[in-house]
Amino acid sequence: PVSSRRTEDHGMKLLATTLFAVAFGILLGLSFPSLWITKTSLPKTLLHSIAVSHRGSEFATPHKSIDISKIWVPSNPRGAERLPPGIVASESDLYLRRLWGDPQEDLKKQPRYLATFTVGYNQRYNIDACVKKFSENFTIVLFHYDGRTSEWNDEFDWSKKAIHISVLTQTKWWYAKRFLHPDIVVRYDYIFIWDEDLGVDNFDAEEYIHMVKKHGLEISQPGLDPEKGFTWQITKRREESEVHKMESDEKLEWCSHPPRPPCAAFVEIMAPVFSKDAWRCVWHMIQNDLVHGWGLDFALRRCVEEPAHEKIGIVDSQWIVHQFIPSLGSQGKADNGKTPWQGVRDRCHVEWKMFESRVENAEKDYLKALQVGSPSNSTTFQ
Ligand SMILES: *[C@@H]1O[C@H](CO)[C@@H](O)[C@H](O)[C@H]1NC(C)=O
Ligand SMILES: *[C@@H]1O[C@H](CO)[C@@H](O)[C@H](O)[C@H]1NC(C)=O
Repeated sequence: PVSSRRTEDHGMKLLATTLFAVAFGILLGLSFPSLWITKTSLPKTLLHSIAVSHRGSEFATPHKSIDISKIWVPSNPRGAERLPPGIVASESDLYLRRLWGDPQEDLKKQPRYLATFTVGYNQRYNIDACVKKFSENFTIVLFHYDGRTSEWNDEFDWSKKAIHISVLTQTKWWYAKRFLHPDIVVRYDYIFIWDEDLGVDNFDAEEYIHMVKKHGLEISQPGLDPEKGFTWQITKRREESEVHKMESDEKLEWCSHPPRPPCAAFVEIMAPVFSKDAWRCVWHMIQNDLVHGWGLDFALRRCVEEPAHEKIGIVDSQWIVHQFIPSLGSQGKADNGKTPWQGVRDRCHVEWKMFESRVENAEKDYLKALQVGSPSNSTTFQ
């Protein structure tokens, strides 16, 4: 009985296999009717080309089959991998366009320099004087912290061509981070990010650019009138020179060897001018929450090639007056018995400390990671 049982099992298996094979065959026939076509019904040219390509493949390197129904370009900017590279516009500009006509003919000129001012309406006459020191080779951007924008157009002709960005009660670095992304301002060789309280009687922007190019300054500021007050010795305007890059004051001996801020490689944050390349780096260093930018000036040297003190300097022949108008202070808020002005000032100092420790920690972390991964104490390469 055991053997007959086994034969029966075997018979059942055979039947199942046969049924399956028949079903599979029918399915195949249904899905690929073309397989029923006999060889003779195929056009001769097609057969020929199949034969040729088969013969050729003996010599050709086997290549991955390319899925031509899908685009995926890893070298495109992140997020744009599905686009054919030819249509990717990864950079933009601040040039104003018209609404009609041939787009090719929109731009009568394409300024190569950018000047931005963070302004309140009360300082409009000072800003008017500033803007007049910048030629038509500059795009002018005003960041309005007091919400008053349209009034500017009533008073100043240049205002109608300027770009106005209005967000209540924010700071220069907040605006710069949000609206001056390096890929947006990439058409500008130099970028001025200036406060609103600068006296420009002895300043001309074209001349300034000329000096900056001549002396190879990636980051710079105009010298400050020593009569009118300054915070750091190095930013003081010198009468005898075009540009200076170092402070030799003995009192500041501690930061001269090697030359380090605030004796060298230093400009203050009130009136900095960045080259396109330097700005691409500085933009990344600006923190989203540290809006006053205090301490940034001590870290700028990280954004230029060493020796940094050669690339960062003060332009003496075009100089300005820092008028110290505490305009932002009045935008603060009374809190805990502090005046609005004190509140803002305190936050400035707190941010300075925070920024300092973030930079330090980031550097330490990086160097530590480098050590851990270095071949000298790793077993991978031994
Ligand atoms: C603007 O730039 C052009 C090209 O560099 C220069 O020839 C011209 O003198 C500049 N305009 C002014 C007002 O300096
Ligand atoms: C490499 O050196 C670092 C720092 O001295 C240490 O923390 C780490 O454990 C070392 N790694 C190995 C694999 O020895």
